[in-house]
Amino acid sequence: MCGIVGYIGEREAYPVILEGLKRLEYRGYDSAGIALYDGQDIKLSKTKGKVADLEKRVSSEIDASGTVGIGHTRWATHGVPNDVNSHPHYSNSGNLVIIHNGIIENYESLKQELIKRGYTFTSDTDTEVLINLIEDVKKNENVKLGKAVQIALNQVVGAYAIAVFDKNKPNEIVVAKLGSPLAIGIGDDEFFIASDATPFLEYTKKAIYLEDEEMAIVRRKKGVKIRKIKNDSLVAPYVQELQMNLEQIVKGGYEHFMLKEIHEQPNAIKDTYRGRLRAKEGIIKMSGIDDNIEKFLNTNRIIVIACGTSWHAGLVAEYIFEDLARIPVEVEYASEFRYRNPIITENDVVIAISQSGETADTLAAIKLAKSKGAFVFGVCNVVGSSIARETHAGAYTHAGPEIGVASTKAFTTQITVLTLIALKLAKEKGSISNSNFHLHLQELELIPGKVEQALKSDAHIKQVAETYKDAKNCLYLGRGFNFPVALEGALKLKEISYIHAEGYPAAEMKHGPIALIDEQMPVFVIATKKGHYEKVVSNIQEIKSRKGKIIGIVTEGDVDVKNLADHTIEVPETLEVLTPLLTTIPLQLLSYHIAVLLNKNVDQPRNLAKSVTVE
Ligand code: F6R
Repeated sequence: MCGIVGYIGEREAYPVILEGLKRLEYRGYDSAGIALYDGQDIKLSKTKGKVADLEKRVSSEIDASGTVGIGHTRWATHGVPNDVNSHPHYSNSGNLVIIHNGIIENYESLKQELIKRGYTFTSDTDTEVLINLIEDVKKNENVKLGKAVQIALNQVVGAYAIAVFDKNKPNEIVVAKLGSPLAIGIGDDEFFIASDATPFLEYTKKAIYLEDEEMAIVRRKKGVKIRKIKNDSLVAPYVQELQMNLEQIVKGGYEHFMLKEIHEQPNAIKDTYRGRLRAKEGIIKMSGIDDNIEKFLNTNRIIVIACGTSWHAGLVAEYIFEDLARIPVEVEYASEFRYRNPIITENDVVIAISQSGETADTLAAIKLAKSKGAFVFGVCNVVGSSIARETHAGAYTHAGPEIGVASTKAFTTQITVLTLIALKLAKEKGSISNSNFHLHLQELELIPGKVEQALKSDAHIKQVAETYKDAKNCLYLGRGFNFPVALEGALKLKEISYIHAEGYPAAEMKHGPIALIDEQMPVFVIATKKGHYEKVVSNIQEIKSRKGKIIGIVTEGDVDVKNLADHTIEVPETLEVLTPLLTTIPLQLLSYHIAVLLNKNVDQPRNLAKSVTVE
């Protein structure tokens, strides 16, 4: 996630770009930078930190005049967040400058080729490789910038939204898109470029949204020419009239951040495994694990510490690690762990999971574990957060900023990271066969598409929500890998609809909770084909015979549960270890729709905060 902004027209570019970057800061805030052209030269200023830090730096570093420029706010992927890795990036000649949102997956091989041809690199980024590739093409093929960008992009594998500027062609900006968003605002003799329309809403309501594999040359006064990157064919621009206000656009057209974030999960999961999972080659690459592999392989146990939804992800990890990597796992509430004099040794590996990276209890538990000599590994979403800094090593989830207080995409991306780690350790330990390892990698790669499929049940789920919205209590049941999903389903309902809900392992019902069952009690049962299916069907029968209402989360094509349940919601089939990534989706949507139907404040539920920095 990064934000890109560009301007070419009659006004001073700097204030337009700066304000635009502030609005796009939700997309990443590891570093920010700007390049302006004042009629003679490019002036570039960039810094680690937020747009506010950039503003300070610009005022002391450059004369911010000029009517053309590009700016960037970064969510670090390749290369740590620092000044050098910040965008914009120059080409070796200093003539070209680029901003980029996305990942160039084959950057390493391209870089090696360019190094052989004499190019040098100052940053660790894939973006610096791309701008030099463009320069190389431009020089060798003796073509204009637009053509060079097109030829270079045809050699690139990955995702991008880019804006490129050539100081020798100062009346144009070349942009292109694949997989990352890019909008062009059309003003009177002026043009705006941005990751979304918020940076130019006050200047124009006319916008072109580039499609994947399209590029455009945006020329001062002359307009926008769009072409297909692959076959060079011209595309007639489709200019849209923007209907939205600022707030809506930040929510991407969704009514609530929570709904937007639920729908972002296919991409969030993909972004999380991108660059790490190479299914075809049978490789999982995670530097935080690679660099500390002996610690993981020599430990007698892993202790997971977390709170709330992150704790539920930890519970899923317990099942996954023990099943695949055969390493014993204990999952602890950070708030309990820190105060109960736990037995921790230098041989222990502790995994701390936190979306915000700021949760006070988790932070304190990490410090305690470190003080006893344990190796602590972080799984965080917010780059550079306190927990990310406090842990010895870690792996980020690349879910992008999660604004809705109820955690959704953080949960599924945490499970994605933890699954990658478990698979990697299983491979290293030899606790998984080669063929099974490959099968898991291939299936994990299919999960974003399957989540997309699960999201298609939204309208049906809304109807189910309508039926149960007035319930006073609800039960959530699951077994094995899906027991933690039942807990998470119950938490989602509680926190945004204020309906009392409890999650249980399905077989525990007969040890007490079954006494609660009557015709008023909706019971949400995760009953996918893989994973104790027959036993869960028996549990459903026990509830049914006591007149409970059954809502089954089932595998596509299910028959048995459908015959018993009052409602069923289907999810696609996958390997048992990966089912939590799919069964979670309908439970998130159910909670969301019930809360909306009850008129609750979905994104900011009462008494809660996004980042719990008090104990
Ligand atoms: C529930 C939720 C909370 C958080 C918990 C931990 O939807 O968001 O339960 O999961 O406060 O927060 P992080 O993951 O930021 O440490």
